[in-house]
Amino acid sequence: MIELKSAQEREKMRRAGRVTAEVLEVLKTAVRPGITTRELDVLAERETRARGAVPVFKGYHGYPASVCVSVNDEVVHGIPGARRLKPGDLVSLDFGAQIDGFVGDSALSVFVGEPPSPRAAELLEVTYQALWRAIAAMRPGARLGDVSWAVQEHVEAHGFSVVREYVGHGIGRAMHEDPQVPNYGQPGKGPLLRPGLALAIEPMVNEGTWEVGVLDDGWTVVTLDHRLSCHFEHTVFLGEDGPEVLTLRSDEKRV
Ligand code: MF3
Ligand code: CO
Repeated sequence: MIELKSAQEREKMRRAGRVTAEVLEVLKTAVRPGITTRELDVLAERETRARGAVPVFKGYHGYPASVCVSVNDEVVHGIPGARRLKPGDLVSLDFGAQIDGFVGDSALSVFVGEPPSPRAAELLEVTYQALWRAIAAMRPGARLGDVSWAVQEHVEAHGFSVVREYVGHGIGRAMHEDPQVPNYGQPGKGPLLRPGLALAIEPMVNEGTWEVGVLDDGWTVVTLDHRLSCHFEHTVFLGEDGPEVLTLRSDEKRV
């Protein structure tokens, strides 16, 4: 069942989204050669609690950290640890915060220094643009398939692939609510999008095969061919007049 949010709930979701965006922005700034992914996790938890919020990932189905840090062939759910970031690494930071009963969820990808290849740089750009195309497809009267197709169409037009096994989701009081938001689908199909809908849209895009597996740690998702993967995510609220990106960072231009 897809739950629509009231104006009052929208206001609370704005707050959760703002905290999520602020913490992610701090983490993005902290990414540099030599930093460990655990240091990023410590920073995430500190910055979250300093804002009176709670990291939502920590303890979620037993997940042991506040942020997911997924590097290079890691798609999502990378667990922070002793790994040191090095120049050319493609780092995805996925983070969620809860405050006043509502949740924000957002992810970004960034290179440590310069991209290792032009194609790697293109992967990041295409994934980011796919997210924004999906956001633009989120209009009252459109269908969920339009959002999914916006991602798939853009990604595949550039010769990359979308991950099938992990999807975006509705969001609100819980991090994961109905509906699921796949990064593939058919335009004009699926549930009607109505004002009050809140979605976490999150393209996960691979340089090579779309196929993925999970490491022995039970969490880290990696590409089967070990080529690069990229991930961006925003929590988006559908108003009467169109989408509002609740997790927009100040380093982003678009609204
Ligand atoms: N941001 C992820 C999602 O959208 C959640 C991370 S999984 C967790 O599903 F276990 F770390 F919380
Ligand atoms: Co999510």
